[in-house]
Amino acid sequence: MTKPSSYSINRRLTGLFDTDDISVEDQDLLEYGQDWTRFYKPDPSAVVFPRNAQQVRDLVELARKDHLGLVPSGGRTGMSGGACAIDKEIVVSFQKMNAIMEFDRDDATLTVEPGVVTANLQQRAWDEGLFYPVDFGSSGSSYIGGNIATNAGGIKVLRYGMTRNWVAGLKVVTGNGDLLELNGGLVKNNTGYDLRHLFVGSEGTLGFIVEATMKLTGQPLPASVVLLAVPNMSDCLKILQVFRKGLTLNAFEFFSDNAMEKVLSVSEFSRPIDTESPYYVLLEFERSDKTALERAEASFAKCLKQGLLVDGIIASSEQQNKQLWQYRERITESITSRTPYKNDIAVRPSQVPSFLRAIEQVTSRYFPEFEIVWFGHIGDGNLHLNILRPEDWDVSSFKTACDELNHHILDLVSTFKGSVSAEHGIGLLKKAYLPYTRSEREIDLLRNLKQVFDPDSIMNPGKLI
Ligand code: MLT
Ligand code: ZN
Repeated sequence: MTKPSSYSINRRLTGLFDTDDISVEDQDLLEYGQDWTRFYKPDPSAVVFPRNAQQVRDLVELARKDHLGLVPSGGRTGMSGGACAIDKEIVVSFQKMNAIMEFDRDDATLTVEPGVVTANLQQRAWDEGLFYPVDFGSSGSSYIGGNIATNAGGIKVLRYGMTRNWVAGLKVVTGNGDLLELNGGLVKNNTGYDLRHLFVGSEGTLGFIVEATMKLTGQPLPASVVLLAVPNMSDCLKILQVFRKGLTLNAFEFFSDNAMEKVLSVSEFSRPIDTESPYYVLLEFERSDKTALERAEASFAKCLKQGLLVDGIIASSEQQNKQLWQYRERITESITSRTPYKNDIAVRPSQVPSFLRAIEQVTSRYFPEFEIVWFGHIGDGNLHLNILRPEDWDVSSFKTACDELNHHILDLVSTFKGSVSAEHGIGLLKKAYLPYTRSEREIDLLRNLKQVFDPDSIMNPGKLI
């Protein structure tokens, strides 16, 4: 890959973009050259802001000719370095391709440009009397293009699935410079390989999304949030079984008491329940009929009797629902200053109890000197294991130590046939760990696919494989 100077790249890009849509300013290179991952030093050669698909194609052509790397950039909320430009690449920010292009009531779809902020898509769907259900803490800043490229998950996967389930059509510019229109919003289309799904979760390594048609669904019924104090992490799944019987659950999350403490330390909040407990479960159930609340109370009483929980509350208003969600949603922000080493692991839900018991042993054996903050979407089998950097450690020695110790956790993930990245993607951070989840032969085939769509390796080079 060529590593051009900012001067020479600026000169070449001015033929394709207005000067307002190119930046080589230090501040922009720093800002647009990284996502939320804090282990990589951003070092792009320029940032461009295309306004349409043709400009993306022209840029790909230039990149092929001049051997330039291109890094796609959305809301930069990723956590695996998938949007980090560390080797003089050109960052392609979709910030200016942010139009909601079409709402189709009959198809119940919204067609959007990739730079639409997830929350704006959700809001537009709601204003039309429908619902876009994929949701997470960073919805207010992440872009739909990035959500698709990473197959984003979040807090409602238990009920609605991942982003993949909601993609009805895509337009992409591949590393060959082709503009492909994939599936075109069809509900039924059994005509061979569904290339649309190759691009979902491809992290921009095959091509860049320039338009997406997203499915919508009916608005949900009112819901109530329940927060439970749970002494043993491995009992979380037993609690899920009890509440799932007779209730429709929208979410089933958990977090540790030190996660709660971190949130308290960055907010004005007080503890929502008096009893302190090593873990908490936060669940949301739909009030599908008049007796749903009674069924939730009965589930609560049953778990209490079985010793699975020691205390808890059921929110009594929409405002209290929102307040309880804050204890879960603000965890990420509350630990950012400690440069957390984020593990985003998953096993099949049926394996969660035994996996949790095994992982607790591994972490107490190999990580006793590090503080670990647990949270995640435990109902999906997805745990976020965040190792916090001790305040007197520098970032690089901390990462090296975690990289070494992490093999013990990942061995376990492999034994349980789990995933080293449930929803954050592979990017740069998890690349070395891919073989714990995918076989050598599979990785070879992924490389072959990359070669088909991106023969010059210009699309998000160095990421994923
Ligand atoms: C979450 O579940 O809150 C997100 O995946 C973010 C994170 O892991 O920090
Ligand atoms: Zn998550």
